[in-house]
Amino acid sequence: MKKARIAVLVSGGGTNLQALIDAEKKGILKSGTISLVVASNPNAFALERAAIAGIPCDIAWKKVLGSQEAFEDKILELIEVYKIDLIVLAGFMAILSERFTSRFPKRIINVHPSLIPSFCGKGFYGLRVHEAALEYGVKVTGATVHFVNEIPDGGEILMQKAVSIRPDDTPETLQKRVMRLAEWKILPMAVEQVSAEIVK
Ligand code: GAR
Repeated sequence: MKKARIAVLVSGGGTNLQALIDAEKKGILKSGTISLVVASNPNAFALERAAIAGIPCDIAWKKVLGSQEAFEDKILELIEVYKIDLIVLAGFMAILSERFTSRFPKRIINVHPSLIPSFCGKGFYGLRVHEAALEYGVKVTGATVHFVNEIPDGGEILMQKAVSIRPDDTPETLQKRVMRLAEWKILPMAVEQVSAEIVK
């Protein structure tokens, strides 16, 4: 059976990448195969997870590449070389411009740690999202998987899962619970759904 070739773009710990690797092993992700991991910096622990899983990986580091254009060109080149069908942003903290995103309509997906349209868009990433949810005092938060377009966190929603906030939550405890109960579940499911569409 033909499988969609997936590139996962990462910046940090890579627990969402790990969830995808595990889902492929378990057969939850069966219509796609993780064929490339690209990190936005050389210190991303996600690179070690990719290496352990035997997945080819590379680094696109804006700091050494010098410009947004050169940074995006490096990713574009890798996408071409590895014949990638689907790009997954899994804790990818760098911005991709419209010049990049417009080339891949409904072929880039992102996981965001809140229920979009709350706590999303420019400046809302990582722990900051959970700090904002706790500051606001919402009682329910969660995670969203969506297609990526030119609007930050503004593309069509694919899946969402809600997570209750506890009175004693800190940004760190909330982040962990949202990952465990929501992100690591809906990201592999959404990646399978889009991969199945691609190979159909
Ligand atoms: C995850 O919570 C992910 O949703 C978030 O960063 C974390 C990365 O963790 N992404 C964003 O905030 C993007 N806007 P990971 O590296 O362990 O997957």
